[in-house]
Amino acid sequence: MNILIVGGGGREHALAWKMAQSHHCDNLFIAPGNPGTASIGTNVAIEVNDFVGLKNCALENAIDLIVVGPEDPLVNGIFDYFSKDEATAHINVIGPSAEAAQLEGSKAFSKHFMQRHGIPTAAYAEFTHANYEEGVEYIKAHALPIVLKADGLAAGKGVIIAFTHQEALASFEEMIQNKQFGEASSKVVIEQFLEGIEVSVFALTDGQSYQIIGHAKDYKRIGEGDTGLNTGGMGCVSPVPFMDKNFMQKVEARIIKPTIQGIQSENLVYKGFVFFGLMNCEGEPYVIEYNCRLGDPETEVILPRLQTDLVSLLAAADNGTLQDVNIEYQTAAFATVMAVSGGYPGNYQKDFTIQGLSESANVPGVIVFQAGTGFKDNAIVTKGGRVLTATAQGNTLKEAVEIAQNALSNIQFEGMYFRRDIGYEFES
Ligand code: AMP
Ligand code: GLY
Repeated sequence: MNILIVGGGGREHALAWKMAQSHHCDNLFIAPGNPGTASIGTNVAIEVNDFVGLKNCALENAIDLIVVGPEDPLVNGIFDYFSKDEATAHINVIGPSAEAAQLEGSKAFSKHFMQRHGIPTAAYAEFTHANYEEGVEYIKAHALPIVLKADGLAAGKGVIIAFTHQEALASFEEMIQNKQFGEASSKVVIEQFLEGIEVSVFALTDGQSYQIIGHAKDYKRIGEGDTGLNTGGMGCVSPVPFMDKNFMQKVEARIIKPTIQGIQSENLVYKGFVFFGLMNCEGEPYVIEYNCRLGDPETEVILPRLQTDLVSLLAAADNGTLQDVNIEYQTAAFATVMAVSGGYPGNYQKDFTIQGLSESANVPGVIVFQAGTGFKDNAIVTKGGRVLTATAQGNTLKEAVEIAQNALSNIQFEGMYFRRDIGYEFES
């Protein structure tokens, strides 16, 4: 099978790493990829929203399977673009239709969906310019803290947790009146704050059946002890100790099954990954958000943990045999620790040479996935905020985290920073 992965971060490096292991994988292309994916397959210099470029690439290389990493092209309709064109309709594109991708692309759409299907989530209301004053009154009467969410995609920055009414009102005004996130914040969802521990569960669906392919806990804040600004994710662990049989049963019965049934009953075309962002509130699961793709850096722990052949699994999602696949996981514990550029998630400099990559690649039980990296003068240099992540396995989460951190200590670039407390809540 010829495969094209769309994207160029750590998630796509992990996808390339996993798919290249399949004996069904003949030729692997990554658009645009990064120096990490270049060592596994062929990078093609096409951006993720260049559908014409991706189509030409797919036809030239007789691509059979396309896996779309990031949400942008999905929300922009890449699935429909390929499925509606006779020349490309035969290609198995993994990702929901644009309509179904609204589960991630519009917070209001996903809240309505959850409400229609009785899926537990935070209480909410939505406001636009038309009922702005009502929104102001709603905020004033709301318990603290208050969560404000820009309806549309805002590159991970559209959620504000306000601890005073003043702060909430200022953010509300910024979003709606001053169009802080452009069109994405013309509608704002205001919701109840859920207290608990977050966990992400990943499923693959063909719109009818599903398979759970893993779960992980992501550490989103830049600072140790979960302090400071939100980032794309500073590290992950899997499995998560509280994800025991009892909790998983609740997640499946109350959240995953009704979601897939909802997708089916509403005739949403969805062949792809579903990312359930959950909050464990004293043992009861609630949905914080849906994403219509894999997480980053969650993918960098769930794919190493997954034993099942991913290419076969994605083929099964296309040919109606998904329910027959047997999902197997490694018994080891996995952790990934992300190294970022100094200053991230604020401003940071780029183009610093990365040293020690090959040494750390030789540490047993460690995989280094590249994210924001690029080539310059035959060297691998920093190109993004999140630069690379070391994934390790161990007998315990603690051991896996230690091995990942040790691997990172072999790597150097100017300003490099990583959290040394990933998995801190879990003793073993
Ligand atoms: P999102 O962009 O939807 O992933 O939200 C970003 C982060 O905000 C989440 O990962 C949570 O940490 C937090 N968050 C979102 N909604 C809530 C909520 N209702 N209660 C508490 N925290 C929330
Ligand atoms: N790590 C969170 C995300 O991928 O959205």
